[in-house]
Amino acid sequence: MQNNASNQASKPALLVDQVAFNYSASQAATSHFGSISAQSNDRIVRKEGGREFNTLSEVYPLPADDGDRLDKQHRAFSLSLGGLYPAPEVVRAVLAPQAGVTKRILDIGCGSGIWCTEMAREFPHCQVLGIDLAPVPLDPEDLPPNCSFEMDDVNQGLDHLQGMYDLVHARAFAIGLKDFRTSLQQIVECLKPGGILIWMDGDYDFYSGWPMTYVPYWSSSNPHGSYTQRVLYEFRKSAILSGSDVRTMEKVLQEGFWNNAPMLDPGTCKTAGVYLPIGPWCEQGDPAQQEQLKYVGMLLRHMFFETSKATQPSIIKAGWSKQESDRWAARMREGMRFWLFGLCNRVMNKSGRMSTRYYGFPNAPRMGSSAGRTEFTSTDAPYSSYRR
Ligand SMILES: C[S@@+](CC[C@H](N)C(=O)[O-])C[C@H]1O[C@@H](n2cnc3c(N)ncnc32)[C@H](O)[C@@H]1O
Repeated sequence: MQNNASNQASKPALLVDQVAFNYSASQAATSHFGSISAQSNDRIVRKEGGREFNTLSEVYPLPADDGDRLDKQHRAFSLSLGGLYPAPEVVRAVLAPQAGVTKRILDIGCGSGIWCTEMAREFPHCQVLGIDLAPVPLDPEDLPPNCSFEMDDVNQGLDHLQGMYDLVHARAFAIGLKDFRTSLQQIVECLKPGGILIWMDGDYDFYSGWPMTYVPYWSSSNPHGSYTQRVLYEFRKSAILSGSDVRTMEKVLQEGFWNNAPMLDPGTCKTAGVYLPIGPWCEQGDPAQQEQLKYVGMLLRHMFFETSKATQPSIIKAGWSKQESDRWAARMREGMRFWLFGLCNRVMNKSGRMSTRYYGFPNAPRMGSSAGRTEFTSTDAPYSSYRR
């Protein structure tokens, strides 16, 4: 977590002491905060196999004590975007101070809360709300005054947040959704007219080579396959067995989400996929780019080391033995340590603006002249996708 490393060293468990801090009661019945706040701490997270899990949803399969892993992912994503968000001109125009108007930012599935706090610092005139199934592991004294959090399950609807936000950000959380299309629509409805939605998600597959091709996973009939691919494949399958609609997400992200969220203005929608290196192997680009990509690779390799452990409870729940799961996890870590010829993970970025047509929103800035898809890779345009 940024700037509180020394605090953390002297603190006991992170998840038990924050019920009262900067959590505001939600405005409608879909929020669980009101009832959760009255419960004892141990019911906010559930302990299982030495890890902590949220108590609001059975669908999201990863532990809730995952802050360090998520912060590494955040740093890697931010470096690959060149900042906290794509389409910087549009985001800054949408969030620009306006007399008499409170600009609001919503982060859905906010995880460790790091994106929220950094956005709150970058846009001190905006109110930032992060919602998540689990409490955010931050100390109240580290929070900017314009940043708060709520516990909510998106699967229960977002009626209480409708039409309130200038920017809605959803990153790497869709595996926790039961019905991707319905949730996407409800998330779009949280926007004000002209507000911008930013969606970012990995597609759970690994690639290598040039052009990038899918790396087959390890199995007894493919002994040279990748354990990393196998672990993530089994993890995704286990999540689907628990009710996740993650398969639909991939289709929607590949096709262009404006087709599935008809309130977004297609003329403002952009899609880009970026291949991020896992491990510090990247030799392409100028020296500064190389250094940055190597750092991204190191962060993601650490992040996936931790993922190899975080995914285990879900894989075991789906029927695999602990022994087999331990073996895969160990091989995954070993593979990432020594496999230096180009493993990548693809991350999809999307953004689009709520249609202004029916609301007469004046002179809304647009993201670009053409709707559509821009494919690029970390080796040809790693940091400037939306600026092209
Ligand atoms: C992989 S983490 C990503 C966190 C953060 N968005 C980031 O990019 O650093 C996914 C987060 O989404 C949350 N989440 C998953 N399903 C959710 C749901 N149905 N409602 C609210 N939050 C959810 C999880 O609790 C978890 O903290």
